[in-house]
Amino acid sequence: MQRERLRIGLFGYGCVGQGLHDIINSSGFDAEIVKICVKHGDKPRRLPARAFTLNRYDILDDSEINLVVELTNDAREAFNIVSGAMERGKMVVTAGKAMVANNLAALTDMQSRYGVPLLYEASACASIPVIRNLEEYYDNELLNSVEGIFNGSTNYILSKMESSGAGYHDVLREAMDNGFAESDPTLDVTGLDSKQKLCIITAHAYGLFPRPDDIFHTGIENITEHDIRYAREKGLRIRLVAHVSKCAADTITAFVMPRFVQSSDKLYHVKDEYNGVIAEGAFADRQFFYGKGAGGHATGCAVLSDISACSYGYRYEYKKRARGRVKKITNDHLTEIYLRYNLEEERRLFGFKEITEYFCGTGFRYVKGVVNLQTLYQNREAIRESGVFMVKI
Ligand code: HSE
Repeated sequence: MQRERLRIGLFGYGCVGQGLHDIINSSGFDAEIVKICVKHGDKPRRLPARAFTLNRYDILDDSEINLVVELTNDAREAFNIVSGAMERGKMVVTAGKAMVANNLAALTDMQSRYGVPLLYEASACASIPVIRNLEEYYDNELLNSVEGIFNGSTNYILSKMESSGAGYHDVLREAMDNGFAESDPTLDVTGLDSKQKLCIITAHAYGLFPRPDDIFHTGIENITEHDIRYAREKGLRIRLVAHVSKCAADTITAFVMPRFVQSSDKLYHVKDEYNGVIAEGAFADRQFFYGKGAGGHATGCAVLSDISACSYGYRYEYKKRARGRVKKITNDHLTEIYLRYNLEEERRLFGFKEITEYFCGTGFRYVKGVVNLQTLYQNREAIRESGVFMVKI
């Protein structure tokens, strides 16, 4: 197969940009990074100043550059860069999950209009090739569900709190120092980053492009040692799990919540910054994908795989979207949760339909029971502000 010679314009030289640079240099991959566009010119960097520019048009208007790699941390800027590159007929690879999740329909239209590929494997679960597998291998209508740990930082925090008894803020700092967390780590710990990845995965699993705002998410920012101890005493672990599943032939449901997992569950054994994805098909049963979900080199590998795919003309076809079998997403879904809270009015936000366990301790209470996701979605702002901690059972 004839491969197109790649001349790359890179936007962003943070953790992933540097990781990609290392990988291209040491892998001998035949591509040239012609220019790197950064926001700040005064930072000390490993490369000579002539490698960088502050002016995006030095890349966008360079007709020799045929591939733009977008690795910035600003979703709005990223969208402008990506659309500017596509309008100019350049191929694009991005790791920007917020940008992709919030603009999937527009980005898909631009790919058809300008006839260029946009690949974003690195935007979901870093080194795990989940998007291309959903797009190609699972090119059918038989997926019952896709779920898993889609955020490396929160998994790092949860597994360190479990194994070493470390405090939440100390391990969050470690996740930041290791380059796993977002520049604004609230995106990780509140579950929003997992939800953006879930939207992208849903698009390729079911052909429906949900808006992040349509999906309920809750994170681990209010977790305490009580919750870790509760789980340990029952032989469980807590993992932040993103989930999408079919509930009727044309309907799916999706959410992000911490979950209690048992030792028989693959996700129980996913530790540190690793991610795990479980795809359940009607006939193939459950398949498990495991790999590093954050970090410059792990994410850089997924970016390089997309760069390589561009060189032989690969593009997503969005065949499931074209077939349009899945038409809607619903929050009308019953689920069992554990809720730790302080005030009765906090518990009322959840509209428990049935209570199976209740405990009142010093300074906190917890309850286990069945709720409708629809109620949680309707009260999502108040739930977020309340400081409670919930776990799906
Ligand atoms: N902050 C993200 C995570 C980086 O921790 O998973 C990879 O998307």
